Amino acid sequence: MIYFDNSATTQPDESVLESFIAANLRFYANPASIHQMGREAEVLLKRSKEQMLELVDNEDGEVVITSGGTEANNLAIHGFAQAYKSRGNHIITTQIEHPSILNACRELEKDGFEVDYLSVDEQGLISLQELESKLKKETILVSIMHVNNEIGTIQPIQQCAELIKRSGRTIFHSDCVQSYGKLSVSMRSLGVDAITISAHKINGLKGSGALFFKNNVKPNAINFGGGQENGLRSGTVSVPNAVSMAKAMRISAEQHERKNYRNWKKKIIDACAEIELVKVVSPDNAAPHIISLAFKSINGEVAINYFQEKGIIISTSSACFSKSKNASHVVEAIDLDKKFKNGVIRISFGNTNTEEEVDTFITVLREFVELIERGK
Ligand SMILES: Cc1ncc(COP(=O)(O)O)c(C=O)c1O
Repeated sequence: MIYFDNSATTQPDESVLESFIAANLRFYANPASIHQMGREAEVLLKRSKEQMLELVDNEDGEVVITSGGTEANNLAIHGFAQAYKSRGNHIITTQIEHPSILNACRELEKDGFEVDYLSVDEQGLISLQELESKLKKETILVSIMHVNNEIGTIQPIQQCAELIKRSGRTIFHSDCVQSYGKLSVSMRSLGVDAITISAHKINGLKGSGALFFKNNVKPNAINFGGGQENGLRSGTVSVPNAVSMAKAMRISAEQHERKNYRNWKKKIIDACAEIELVKVVSPDNAAPHIISLAFKSINGEVAINYFQEKGIIISTSSACFSKSKNASHVVEAIDLDKKFKNGVIRISFGNTNTEEEVDTFITVLREFVELIERGK
């Protein structure tokens, strides 16, 4: 089986699994307990967090371990909104964020917050002018994803940060779930105050993610209980989750330069240039591991089933929308040509892939198109 759905989730790295098991077997004590075993677990937790903070260039900042990207995004949107609402009630995000940002914002709108959703062009790019025009003194939070999960667009996060910082004390959060391990993610270079990362997208384990933030900002808690994680996330902290996530982050940061994703992507795009029925949806500047293609007047699901029969796993625009009959919010936002809207597929590379697999994909793509053309 060839697995090209790594933006949905990845196969856990064996060494990450081993570290999870080892930490569970040895450091299972509650890190909040004051006995020696608890203190040892606490030391390991602290060390894992230090490693994670170092990997995103936020050494003197904080990290809260969450259950994944969704929870970290909710903590960012609701937590910062609640913490800074005395300064204003305005939030800016984009139309193509992951549902964990969009739906968290929609909930805040019900509570009286005002949210602007920035539009994007046909490449999925926001306009810096539009961002600038929306910033106002009541803007307390801007959240713009680094890499889009459906089409791979990379947003100009550094330029956004410059605009946002010029305008005052607005907090800038970026969802880096799809960029960490594929692009350089340094909070210092990006100029952001907070980022979200999810472990299962980087060969880590499902059930862990993190919100990183600088030491001069702090979200409010969004769940309540024993006050663990400096009051920010109540519940017994899973030391093995922290240990294994730190390991997954380290491995993927080390590996991302070594993979040939850009060349593989070019191969697929070059092959598509010869096929009239296929349009490349991903923009030229997109992240190297995501390629979105669209078939003219063919349903994406038909393609996915055909590829599956040939042993290749790909997805429609994203895992969240794969069961929906409608085009995704991203496909709508980029205003994709009507004839291609329902034919979107996504190929996403990961650590386990090889160039031979890419070649096989291209062969099967040609076969599929031939079959469709013969059937017309
Ligand atoms: C950009 C982006 N943000 C957030 C998430 C949510 O992450 P998780 O699955 O860990 O909740 C995803 C997952 O698909 C994603 O692609």
